[in-house]
Amino acid sequence: MVQSLQRLALGIPDLQVGAEFYTTFGMNMYEGKDMLAFRCDNRKHDEIVLIETGQSRKFHHIAFATDAPDLEDLKGRLGSRGVQLLDPPYEDQEDGIWFRDPDGNLVNVHIGPAASIEAETPPVINTPGITKRVNERGCPPFDMNPRPRRFGHMILFTPDVPAQTKFYIDVVGMKLSDWIADGYAAFLRTAGDSDHHVLGFLNASTPGFHHASFEMSSIDETEIAAKRLLGNGFKHAWGPGRHGVGSNYFHYFRDPWNGMAEYFFDIDYLTEDFDWEPTEWTKQSGMFLWAADGPPPPDFGTNYEAE
Ligand SMILES: [Fe+2]
Repeated sequence: MVQSLQRLALGIPDLQVGAEFYTTFGMNMYEGKDMLAFRCDNRKHDEIVLIETGQSRKFHHIAFATDAPDLEDLKGRLGSRGVQLLDPPYEDQEDGIWFRDPDGNLVNVHIGPAASIEAETPPVINTPGITKRVNERGCPPFDMNPRPRRFGHMILFTPDVPAQTKFYIDVVGMKLSDWIADGYAAFLRTAGDSDHHVLGFLNASTPGFHHASFEMSSIDETEIAAKRLLGNGFKHAWGPGRHGVGSNYFHYFRDPWNGMAEYFFDIDYLTEDFDWEPTEWTKQSGMFLWAADGPPPPDFGTNYEAE
């Protein structure tokens, strides 16, 4: 089984616009040959990789980390189902295996530690009848520089949500957390202690990339980061709001190629031994409890890779 989500790679027409977007988003950039890599502060692995193809944006690959025994188990399950192991798509990659999922998406799994995240003390807040913060201002500093902490999850389009879900559960070793009715969407977590979802699938006529999501430390930080993207001309997509599935606060922005990047805060977390009962949600309830700009915009579920 895979133990953690590591990176998303996209093929894009022009690295420069990618550099502007993800650095404004709050990530650190590293340059390679015909590619750029981005990491949140203090992360020791690439979380977003952009590969210059000169063609319209297209999903390139997704990478997970695991340990040596689980990698061997995975190889066995892939072999028994006739899934071929492939050569790496470019040089200088870490050891690991490459294969394609049922939709043809390229997947890498390599040996690596699950990246831990530094614990942060939450802001002290006052609630009705409980004033924990006294004689002190609660408003964060006006010069706050919001930084995403980590790449938490991503969603891919698929023409067959149940088939993709089954492959990632039966072969890759993930668990189903929740789904949205009528084959519209499914949300998967890793088999150990995990965020509610690290990978999800959303129905569309063809495969493609929907969004990548990054953790923030508060709703204030999320919205000040959103203001920074807006101030630099990037396009708001949906939010702020709160999802039903996963419970996280969200704010989505369009990347320069009509994919999306999301800031999230306060996502549900499930432990390995807890008997979580996956629930079927409706489109309305699963997508959001509330959002400042109302229901998702008409193109929220549009797969621009199909056009
Ligand atoms: Fe998300």
